[in-house]
Amino acid sequence: MPFDITPIDDKPAAQIKGLDLSQPLDPAVYRALVQTLSKYPVLVFHGQDLDAAAFHGFTRRFGTLQEHVLHKYRHAEFPGLSWLTNVASDGSVDEFGVRRATTWHSDGSYTAIPPTLGILHAYETPPTGGGTLFIDMGAAFDRLTPALQTRLRGLTGLHRHGAGPGGDMYDNSLSDKQKENHRDVFHPVVTQHPDSGRPILYVNETHTHKFEGINKTDSIALVNDLVAQAVQPDAIYHHQWTPGDMLIWDERSTIHRGEGDYTPTARRIMLRAIIDQISIHE
Ligand code: SIN
Repeated sequence: MPFDITPIDDKPAAQIKGLDLSQPLDPAVYRALVQTLSKYPVLVFHGQDLDAAAFHGFTRRFGTLQEHVLHKYRHAEFPGLSWLTNVASDGSVDEFGVRRATTWHSDGSYTAIPPTLGILHAYETPPTGGGTLFIDMGAAFDRLTPALQTRLRGLTGLHRHGAGPGGDMYDNSLSDKQKENHRDVFHPVVTQHPDSGRPILYVNETHTHKFEGINKTDSIALVNDLVAQAVQPDAIYHHQWTPGDMLIWDERSTIHRGEGDYTPTARRIMLRAIIDQISIHE
């Protein structure tokens, strides 16, 4: 590998050392990073320093960037990037920005072909709290009983933006014109990771709101039960942010959420890229 990989305890994460992500990197490095995600679905970098243009340049070489469904947070110059911030344009606290993304989700599970990678780069971070939590949903599937695994293999989940039991924070955040506001997309509850071949539990409490052939009440109960079984405290990778950190995670095999739990006036500003399909640019 063209970099050092240090596993983080027994968590689904590894620290990557020996790369300056602000510099042009060989396509082989991008391929090696993607390959590493099959084993460690969250890659952690410290001490990086990329402005928006450099972050755009770095992230877009993994593949096409998805323009985020929340238009308000898109970067003005690079619409494929979006801000994750609790600071409004006049400097006051953005209350929605504080609460946003604090329930378990996989970005873009409400799209017909969900994205592959999420990437976050931190500029300003609270001194305490405000972390991001991750669960490996391949390992979560492995922890289920064989009987439940067999039942889930036959199920299809319905996903719509913010329609899951944990999606209330997104009420009224999309316009009526946005198709994501109305349209369900269907995904098998058990997917297969394209690189590792592992079965993945593809359910999250923010966007999964029903299963085909199961009524609404029982569907919500099943979503809640599956997420509760998945998010065992010992299995969580908890990232405490420091400015200059960058995380790259596999959207296909993980769920994540913001921890919240920080003083709203403590500034928390990051840029995010979401990669649609991986297609490494030379
Ligand atoms: C996200 O969902 O991409 C961000 C989570 C966070 O705010 O830590």
